[in-house]
Amino acid sequence: MSSTDRCLPKTPSIARIVSNQHLSGGIYRALLRMADDWGPSLPGQFVQVECPPREAFAMWRPFSISRFRAERHELELVYGVVGLRTLRLSELTAGEELCLIGPLGRGFEAVSGRRPILIGGGRGIAPMIGLAERWRESLPDGRILYGARSRDLLIPIDDPPYAVWLATEDGSAGFKGNVIELLEAAIARREIDPATIALYACGPNRMLAALSVWAESRGVPCLVSLETHFGCGVGICAGCAVPVRPRDGEDAFARYRFACVEGPVMDGTRVEWEGVAE
Ligand SMILES: Cc1cc2nc3c(=O)[nH]c(=O)nc-3n(C[C@H](O)[C@H](O)[C@H](O)COP(=O)(O)OP(=O)(O)OC[C@H]3O[C@@H](n4cnc5c(N)ncnc54)[C@H](O)[C@@H]3O)c2cc1C
Ligand code: FES
Repeated sequence: MSSTDRCLPKTPSIARIVSNQHLSGGIYRALLRMADDWGPSLPGQFVQVECPPREAFAMWRPFSISRFRAERHELELVYGVVGLRTLRLSELTAGEELCLIGPLGRGFEAVSGRRPILIGGGRGIAPMIGLAERWRESLPDGRILYGARSRDLLIPIDDPPYAVWLATEDGSAGFKGNVIELLEAAIARREIDPATIALYACGPNRMLAALSVWAESRGVPCLVSLETHFGCGVGICAGCAVPVRPRDGEDAFARYRFACVEGPVMDGTRVEWEGVAE
């Protein structure tokens, strides 16, 4: 990380809500109209949103950019209601305004010469769809593996840019099992060759950890979008530090990465997952 990566305050932007729609379970999709000069952005980058209620001390919360349609100046966020701020977010309606900072952090970049296998767990599917849209022309042979606990928790995907293979833990839709078992089954059927692929994943940290261990054992590159607890979101507070295995010759400071500026997309095979909260 260079010193200029940190502490670069961005000017907050005002976004107008176009729609804020319930998708499934406690998951919502917010479509925001941004200023004409906002962006560009990469899937996997995030925004810090000033979440209501302002009278109860508004807090900045991080959300992944699932899509940014530059031609329409529309930013899409997919979020789950877990606490007060995301609950208040879900109550906002079209025409209301939100303040946000971004795009922030590092997004997904393609590993050269490898077929992309995009893996989304739960609401983590949203940025993978945005990524597939971006890569559909330059890397047309990609696949999306989408895992959820059960059918009723699946987020509808309209017009997917890559073929989608579903896995549910209870078998109520698609393959019965998790996304790693689905990946293994596709390899057994010779639909995927581990020697030629790279994995790109977003979802619960438990899933990312298991996938990273699997990828390392197979020698497959694996980039993951990691969620930790963020404070400032811009490299000042150290609240988001993630333990990583240092490379030969690196000093002790290299044992940690600030997920907000050196991530959230990271090489999953270098993360010390036992030090990352589930
Ligand atoms: C880089 C990044 C990208 C994210 N992208 C998304 C996204 O696209 N959609 C989405 O729904 N959420 C996303 N999150 C998580 C989101 O920021 C939290 O769910 C949100 O801040 C919770 O706010 P709250 O006030 O509603 O809940 P709080 O009252 O703050 O917390 C409620 C519960 O959720 C837990 N929690 C809060 N934040 C996190 C977190 N980061 N990881 C795990 N558990 C957490 C708390 O420990 C607590 O148990 C992202 C987080 C990060 C760091
Ligand atoms: S969230 Fe403050 S340094 Fe990363």
